[in-house]
Amino acid sequence: MRVFVTGGAGFIGSAVCRHLVADLGHEVVVIDKLTYAANLDSLAPIAASNLYRFERADICDRAAIDLLFEQHRPDAMIHLAAESHVDRSISGSRVFLDTNVVGAFTLLEAVRAYLAGPGKGVADSFRMLHVSTDEVYGSLGPDGLFTEDTRYDPSSPYSATKAASDHLARAWHRTYGLPVMVSNCSNNYGPYQFPEKLIPLIVLQALEGEPLPVYGDGANVRDWLFVEDHARALAAILQRGRPGETYNVGGRNERRNIDVARRICAIMDDLRPAGAPHERLIAFVADRPGHDHRYAIDATKLETELGWRAQETFDTGIEKTVRWYLERRDWWAPLRSDVYRGERLGLTPA
Ligand SMILES: NC(=O)c1ccc[n+]([C@@H]2O[C@H](COP(=O)([O-])OP(=O)(O)OC[C@H]3O[C@@H](n4cnc5c(N)ncnc54)[C@H](O)[C@@H]3O)[C@@H](O)[C@H]2O)c1
Repeated sequence: MRVFVTGGAGFIGSAVCRHLVADLGHEVVVIDKLTYAANLDSLAPIAASNLYRFERADICDRAAIDLLFEQHRPDAMIHLAAESHVDRSISGSRVFLDTNVVGAFTLLEAVRAYLAGPGKGVADSFRMLHVSTDEVYGSLGPDGLFTEDTRYDPSSPYSATKAASDHLARAWHRTYGLPVMVSNCSNNYGPYQFPEKLIPLIVLQALEGEPLPVYGDGANVRDWLFVEDHARALAAILQRGRPGETYNVGGRNERRNIDVARRICAIMDDLRPAGAPHERLIAFVADRPGHDHRYAIDATKLETELGWRAQETFDTGIEKTVRWYLERRDWWAPLRSDVYRGERLGLTPA
């Protein structure tokens, strides 16, 4: 199978590509604009494979995308390209509208044209998987879980644009019969995550003896999923999911942000005892505007229909992740010095 992976140079996209090529033996063509969040080093483990190709393109550029369909004639597409950081969406939302909404629309239309034209031969088997987030459902109280039927209620410019693109994907299925599936996943963590996101930021700040910023009182709850479990879920949905369906993806690993920070500090105390106790670095900072209180996913449909199970618990996954960042300074040091130095984002509207 030849799979287009948009956003393949990002955090989750690169994990998907490594899984498709190295574990499953599929061909991938990465389509990525290479924004600040991209890193081709994350694809180094498969870069020498003849199953891997890279194409630099903006998903909003219809002519470029049409040409790629014409040239590569894919059997499937996993769409991950997005602006993905909530704090950046608060400071500057325009690019989120462009990439997350107009970009998704452009791809849906390009797939439609492809399946009516050069891709006619694969029209019956072609699948497009639109990758989204649980943040489209808004915030939960202390109880309950998001199911595939939960009403959309996004709070941030990021989640509102992702919600818009999910609606487009479903509408293109109902109106044009496009073979699209949607997945809504909880917060991911793991190797190769850009160090503006909570977990890598805490690890690197702790390593450098810098303050560990925890928003508000740290009581916000996220349902953490190890990125390689997400990659396995996306491969399962692509191969065995039903067009028009939505699948929630989550690891049943709810943690308060403050407990995530404390767990990382405990691991750092073991691995870097000279800096112990790292907890002394925790600093409560002004909360994120519109900060959702709790997200939690009910992944029963994915588990029962497609037989997927998360393989990592939070405790096993977080330990692997901290060790990876300690070993892979070569990967993150250029980002910390040139692209993002750990400064606070998303407090002042642009
Ligand atoms: N990170 C999470 O916890 C999480 C959870 C659930 C869902 N998601 C979704 O998964 C997807 C991937 O998230 P991520 O964390 O890997 O994001 P990321 O920010 O790490 O990577 C995004 C990638 O998309 C590329 N990109 C951005 N704009 C583009 C454009 N206009 N054209 C082509 N490429 C473009 C970037 O260069 C980058 O390589 C997103 O759609 C996100 O909404 C993320």
